[in-house]
Formats: sequence, C-alpha cells, structure tokens
Amino acid sequence: MINFLILLLLLYLLLVVWMNLRHPAVRWKEHKINIAEYTFPKSFFWGAATSAYQVEGGSYNADWAEWEKTYDVSGNPRIKNGDRCGKAADHWNRYREDLRLLKDFGCNSYRFSVEWSKLVPQPGKWNPAAADHYVEMCRFMRDLEIEPNLTLHHFTLPRWLAEKGGFEHPDSINYFMDFTHKTAETLGPYVDYWATFNEPVALALMGWIRGVWSPGKQDICLAARVLGNILEAHQQAYRILHATIRQDSDGDGVPCRVGIVKNITIFDPARKWYLPDWLCTTQINKLYNDAVLDAFHNDRFRFNLLNRVRYRKELPGLSDTLDWIGVNYYTRFLTKFDPNSAQRVQAFPAKKLPKTDMDWAVCPAGLYRALQRVNGFGVPIFITENGIATDDDQLRKDFILKHVDALHEAILDKIDVRGYYYWSLMDNFEWAEGFAKRFGLYYVDYQTQERTLKNGTDIYREIIAQSRSKE
Ligand code: FCB
Repeated sequence: MINFLILLLLLYLLLVVWMNLRHPAVRWKEHKINIAEYTFPKSFFWGAATSAYQVEGGSYNADWAEWEKTYDVSGNPRIKNGDRCGKAADHWNRYREDLRLLKDFGCNSYRFSVEWSKLVPQPGKWNPAAADHYVEMCRFMRDLEIEPNLTLHHFTLPRWLAEKGGFEHPDSINYFMDFTHKTAETLGPYVDYWATFNEPVALALMGWIRGVWSPGKQDICLAARVLGNILEAHQQAYRILHATIRQDSDGDGVPCRVGIVKNITIFDPARKWYLPDWLCTTQINKLYNDAVLDAFHNDRFRFNLLNRVRYRKELPGLSDTLDWIGVNYYTRFLTKFDPNSAQRVQAFPAKKLPKTDMDWAVCPAGLYRALQRVNGFGVPIFITENGIATDDDQLRKDFILKHVDALHEAILDKIDVRGYYYWSLMDNFEWAEGFAKRFGLYYVDYQTQERTLKNGTDIYREIIAQSRSKE
C-alpha cells in the first residue's frame, strides 16, 4: 500500500515537473527602456482602431440595438447603467475630424469596420447611401495617406440576420459571402488590408457561453457551431476578396491581403505545483486560444472540452487563407481549479500587477507571448488592438510604453510584426460595459462630442515620431 502511494506521489510530481518544463515561465526582465534606440521595420503601421457599432452612432438596425433594450433574469439592464449606444461618438458624421486627429497624432493607418446592418438593412437589399459613405471615408483616408485596414465583421449583425439565428445557422455563411462580395466591389479600389472577423472566440464566449452579449445564450454546443460557421465564412470570404479585388491601391504590387483578428489572452496556473490548476489552464487555453488557432494549422476545427462538448468540422484549405494575422492583446489571467463554481474554474488577475478599469492586469510580457504564439504561421502579424481603460494618466503612459517595448523585443527576436493599433482612437461604447470604460487616445465629451487628447498618450506620439525619423 505504502509503495503504491509513493508511486502515485512520484507520478504526480513527474506530471507537475513535465507541465512546468513544457510551459516554461517566460522571463521578462524589467529593463531600462530607451525609445531612442528603437528600430522598427520600414513602413511599419502605427495606428489606432475602432469598430463601427462602437463609434459611428445610428446603428439602429443592428442586433445590439435590440439587445440593449432587454433585461437579464434578475431584471437588470444588459448594459451597465442602462446605457444605449445611440449616437455613440458620432463618428459617422465626424469621421473627417477624427481622421485628421489620427493623422495629426502621427499615425499612418486606421483599423475600422463597416456596419453590416447599415450596408444590408434587409435581406438582399444593398444600401447605396451607406456604401457611398464608406467610399468617401476611404477616399479621405487615402488623401491623408492613411492606410485603411478594414474589418468586415466586428461583433454586430443586421437584426434580420440575428433573427434567423445569426452564425448558429449555416445560411449565415452565404449571407456573409454576399456582404463580403459587395463590400469588396465597393471598397476594393481603396482598401488593401482586409480582416474577415474580429475575435470569433470573444463573440462565441460572451454571446453563447456566458450569455452577456447578444444573443444571450448559454449553450457551449451552439458556441462551437457558431465558431465552425465563422471559420467556414472566413475561408469563403478569403477566396471572394482575392477574386474580386484587382486594384492595388497602396502601390505595393498586391491588391489585397486578407487576415483574421484573434484575441489572445494569456492564462497561467495560479499554483504551478497543483495539477488540477494546470488542467484548468490547458482547457481554458484551448477554448480561448488554441481551438481556433490550431484550426488554421490543421484544416480542422476541433472544440473538445472534457466531457462538455465534442465538436469537429473539417475545413480543407483553411491553412491557406491567412495573408496576415491580427492579434488583439489586453491581459493575462491566473487560472485555478474551483470545485465550488459552476464551471469548476476561476480566472482572475494576478494581485501584484496594476489593474485597468476593466479589472484587467497590466502584463506586457503577455503581449510578447501572444506574438510568439502566432509566429508559427509564418505570415506578417499586426497587433490589431492593445489599449487601456483608465483615468490614470501615468498608468496609461506606462501601459503604452511597456507594451510597445514588448512588441519591440519581439521584433528584435525576429518575430515578423508589421504594425500596432492602439485601441481605441477615441472613447466609445464598450459593449456590456457601456460608456463608462474609456479606452480612447482622445477623451469624448458625449454631450458636446468634443474630443480632447488625453495625458499619458504623448509617449505613443513620441515613439511614432522616433520610428518615422529613422525611415
Ligand atoms: C476587444 C474588442 C473591442 C473592444 C476591446 C476593449 O475585445 O474587439 O471591440 O471592446 O476589446
């Protein structure tokens, strides 16, 4: 009996050592940062990002506009403080002013999205007025020598499509193809950089697992199906974009480059000596990061989480549908086995690290690790979102400086990063958090819609100027 127990203990220790060796802690030396020494690749994209629904205003035909009117089971409004997106930051009417602000800041690229519900307000009905608006906007970017980086789907759907089940339903793939085709015909002459989807996993997780975003479901099997359909829609859209766009608008010889934007969150076990924490970390990492990323390696999407869901979809050729990959990185969580919680797992920010208003830990080393994670695709990487919601100017400054430093370290280590977009150009509607969380480089007074540059953002301007001066 004693021998058996000793054997078990040895086995446990071996497994713990093995897990620790397989996932070595990334040493991140807090070094003295000297931005004067930085060298970034030529024509590096320095930018800021937004998404249509969060900034434009007037998206009353989107599923989210309906969602905002509903209440959860406890009778609380879905959006904090009962906020409604409404006019948002009125970017629809103020995009010229906003793009000039971006330009004055020193940026040379803008990541934005088009609002599907405005372009296709009813099934099969293309809205030429909305299309003209985006044409004007893209032309204006070209006039200002700002490279547009367009995302087709950033979380919202036309209401009519959400009513048909959105991406739960396989028909959504055809609707997305049609929308992609028309958008490519319209904006292809001005836009070379295209992203099909923003953060498919965040969408599936918040909308179908946690149920705190539209459509508010809690069904992990449906979430898997949504992801499978989105990946197939990406694959089809990649083909359509390449077949439709013939005009090279930025003169680099390539008419279009298509990618997908993946949010990467870093998870580490709270207790490195405790096997159940490792198991939780592996599972949660699979759900958030690996399932979708691995599909692009294996041409097969597998979503298997212990005994809760087993989903598999063959996607032959998927691995050939990335010209670039976008990484959205915000934070790192510690993961802990918790037998008392419904999900058996808890994820929380490390105590020692500073926190943003989202209660996310500030962890620049995580950005380096996220970049390492996608390096294996062998395609250029853009940091399509990274930013902080805070009223603390010094924290904002530190956040920007240290994250750009992490990305610079990655470049020194031969990771092919081609651009960085701060989230966000200006304060906006932060989904379930409403207007209270302010990520912008520019503060927005929602009464007057006046924009004011925030303190603590100068560092970003200096880094950009410094990088440009070496070109
Ligand atoms: C990302 C979303 C973006 C914004 C930031 C804070 O997950 O892509 O729309 O909400 O988080």
